[in-house]
Amino acid sequence: MAKQSWFFYNRLYFSDAFYNKQLFESQAIDEWDIRPDDIVVVTYPKSGTYWMLKAVSSLKTDLNLILPQTERSVRIDMLYEDDTHLSGSYAERVKAVKKFFHEMPSPRLLYFHLPPQFLPRKWIEGEKKCKVICVSRNPKDVCVSEYLFQKTLGEHGMDFTWDEWVIAFMEGKVRFGSWLENVVGWNRYGLKDNVLHVRFEDMKKDLRSVLATVADFLDCPKTKEELDNVTERCTFTSMRKGQEFYQKYSPFGDGNSSCSEKRHLRKGQVGDWKNHFTVAQNELFDAEITQRAEQHGLKFVYDTSNE
Ligand code: A3P
Repeated sequence: MAKQSWFFYNRLYFSDAFYNKQLFESQAIDEWDIRPDDIVVVTYPKSGTYWMLKAVSSLKTDLNLILPQTERSVRIDMLYEDDTHLSGSYAERVKAVKKFFHEMPSPRLLYFHLPPQFLPRKWIEGEKKCKVICVSRNPKDVCVSEYLFQKTLGEHGMDFTWDEWVIAFMEGKVRFGSWLENVVGWNRYGLKDNVLHVRFEDMKKDLRSVLATVADFLDCPKTKEELDNVTERCTFTSMRKGQEFYQKYSPFGDGNSSCSEKRHLRKGQVGDWKNHFTVAQNELFDAEITQRAEQHGLKFVYDTSNE
């Protein structure tokens, strides 16, 4: 994908390759089909979205994860995308989400990549409040993971060198906008709003206890054996071996190709950023992103070697 131009809307940059401002302005988001029994996994991309979708759908097996018309999971922020600018199977998926989202049977498992100001207020604050699981990950690993993911998309990916990408990520001029705006926005909500926060690095450190917390939050208690079983199915090795989860449900899954392994389950590590950032990039990133996140009370784990 060639370099793009951007517009600013509701505190975020959007690329005109996917969005147009009029479409945002004309959206009656309070009319979106929202249901109190929806469960929404909220992430900035590359923070463990599919890991959590896999976990939730393994813990609570009565959920509907796919839109029957597309056989793919539903990323709600697709409702904002401009399918007239898009092409191929991705455009078809966006069209189908817009057309059939309200027909999807309950209880639904959905996901969302934007900050909270892009969801209907009553979904997280009002009487229709549903359960939200917000997964976050340290921004340096997110930055690396998304860069390498974009590279696997070939002509559909964003055309940046690594040096350009780090700057664009810090400025929020990337596919889903500012990481900081996203995590700071979601951090305003907590358990009183039905929002559970989970960190990628905690899932890496002790997946079983994170899954126990998620099961509690979803009111679906598990026996010790059941929890052991779900934990085993959600390890990096099992998910890589299985792979069918990505191939079936991801926007880029094609049902059989091994490229979904490279795309989605690349390394699954904490601290891989050290293999990519230069010393100068790291210092700049700390000043622009890490320290600003800390000023908002957000602490992330960047390295597990000392734990
Ligand atoms: P890497 O690119 O660093 O490997 P998302 O689903 O939000 O796009 O996130 C993708 C990232 O989560 C990838 O990171 C992927 O490897 C990691 N991931 C997915 N499932 C995982 C698992 N079971 N264990 C560890 N990491 C996992």
